[in-house]
Amino acid sequence: MLPRCAFSVCHVFVLVLCLSSAEDFDWTKNDHSSFYYGTFPAGFSWGAGSSAYQTEGAWDKDGKGLSIWDVFSHKKGKIQQNDTGDSSCEGYHKVKDDVSLMKELKLNHYRFSISWPRLIPTGIKSDHINEKGIQYYNELIDHLLESKITPIVTLYHWDLPQVLQEKYGGWQNISMVNHFNEFANLCFERFGNRIKYWMTFNNPWSVAVEGYETGEHAPGLRLRGTGAYKAAHHIIKAHAKVWHTYDTQWRAKQKGLVGVSLSGDWGEPVDISNQKDIEAAERYVQFYLGWFATPIFHGDYPQVMKDFVGRKSVQQGLGTSRLPTFSPQEKSYIKGTCDFLGIGHFTTRYITQKNNPSGRSSSSYFTDRDLAELVDPRWPDPGSEWLYSVPWGFRRLLNFVKSQYGNPMIYVTENGVSEKMLCTELCDEWRIQYYKDYTNEMLKAIKDGVNVKGYTAWSLLDKFEWDEGYSERFGLYYVDFRNKNKPRYPKASVQFYKRIISSNGFPNQREVENWRRKAVETCSSSNQLLAAEEQRSTAANILRLIHDPLTSHMEMVTEIVVPTVCTLSILLSAVFLMFLLRRRN
Ligand code: NOJ
Repeated sequence: MLPRCAFSVCHVFVLVLCLSSAEDFDWTKNDHSSFYYGTFPAGFSWGAGSSAYQTEGAWDKDGKGLSIWDVFSHKKGKIQQNDTGDSSCEGYHKVKDDVSLMKELKLNHYRFSISWPRLIPTGIKSDHINEKGIQYYNELIDHLLESKITPIVTLYHWDLPQVLQEKYGGWQNISMVNHFNEFANLCFERFGNRIKYWMTFNNPWSVAVEGYETGEHAPGLRLRGTGAYKAAHHIIKAHAKVWHTYDTQWRAKQKGLVGVSLSGDWGEPVDISNQKDIEAAERYVQFYLGWFATPIFHGDYPQVMKDFVGRKSVQQGLGTSRLPTFSPQEKSYIKGTCDFLGIGHFTTRYITQKNNPSGRSSSSYFTDRDLAELVDPRWPDPGSEWLYSVPWGFRRLLNFVKSQYGNPMIYVTENGVSEKMLCTELCDEWRIQYYKDYTNEMLKAIKDGVNVKGYTAWSLLDKFEWDEGYSERFGLYYVDFRNKNKPRYPKASVQFYKRIISSNGFPNQREVENWRRKAVETCSSSNQLLAAEEQRSTAANILRLIHDPLTSHMEMVTEIVVPTVCTLSILLSAVFLMFLLRRRN
């Protein structure tokens, strides 16, 4: 059976190639390795991004309430090294410093998220509004605008107020729709005079799958086969409601846009001549990006999801599909609730068809898809386990968005690469390569006619990387987390990204090669600086160890124990001597 949009991924792509009308873009040179020298459209917006829980720190300062990530990260064994975001980059206290870094990069925009429990500690607006939280975001927004950097704001980057999780079960409960809408409305009211780009959710796929299906993320629930679908259903409704709130109450006055930031890896058929692989690859993308994008643009879930989850649910003896349904009214309410689409993209997979048994015990989002994911061992994988650098997949994903959702206005909201090394390494040549190749594929996509208006490097700073703690660094700027002031150091990629921004693209091979060489040259001096600082802080740590409460306690113990033992030994010897003398007499 073929999905509703009867084109396979490949067919769509081939079609896009044929229909492309870009005059100056030569499709015959479309091999994966070719580099395209040229510039982005005038006014293209370059930015960098962050999120509240990953960078702000100040988890319990100035009246902030707890979020599910505060609670989750404090549980032992949930995060690498039991790291928490308690202080993270101390972004809450470093607004000016961080805006200076953005100015240094000459960014056009900065993407950040607002922490719901910092504004509304319990998540319920009628309970209490925390004015200090409002003040913090006012300060950040005003600094950005003074520096001519456009703020792009995400309302939900995963930090649900803990009270809402405890009281209602978080996104498993439909009541989140109204609570989230009230929070969004508060943000429109207080910040909307200065914010023109809003995004309701960041990567709802992760919220649903990792929060409610696998439990790797907060709130850590493992409701396999149902939890993710239910969470997603409520998130989509919440998104639509907030879009309508803005549309009816604020748009005329504030003239902003409301979108959503969706994530999607690209899925490429293992065997492009095998129809089953082609369909499996399409399923991979539809279950990922399409799960959210299709309702938002077309009013309902992708047909292929309805078919697969529905069929498996029947085989499992269930009366209804585990994938919830939208009523006709809901469909028309949700359809078209997107002024621009945020795309977060990092990597690609090869996909092949694989039938999974449909027993009730094995039911899960993953087995519902009937496919297997593969990677090419030659793909570079510098950092996170899941992140392989496959730039051409980016262009394909962008073309897929164009053809499936009516060529919407796109802002790339996340794209970047991590490194695993914990030691000093500011000369991040692999990140330069990643940015160079991925932004170039985006340029090719624009030449294909995809409506990409901006690009956000992920991320401005190294930061708390969710269940991976601080072990994976995505930043353009290195953050020394061992130092309590959390100083920032530019990596070589800062120099390189700055050049792409100032040239609005890639002028010619000689110049781009020069950028790379210069970036790597300058980074070695910052590297020395950081290495010296690290040596100093290691020495300071050793000194601190000598004087820390534990060692001073040990000194105290020796002070008491040693004399006591000596005195006791002398006493015992005296008693023993007296005993001997007596026996002799
Ligand atoms: C997507 C998430 O939105 C972001 O917070 C995270 O840092 C990146 N993935 C990298 O894992």
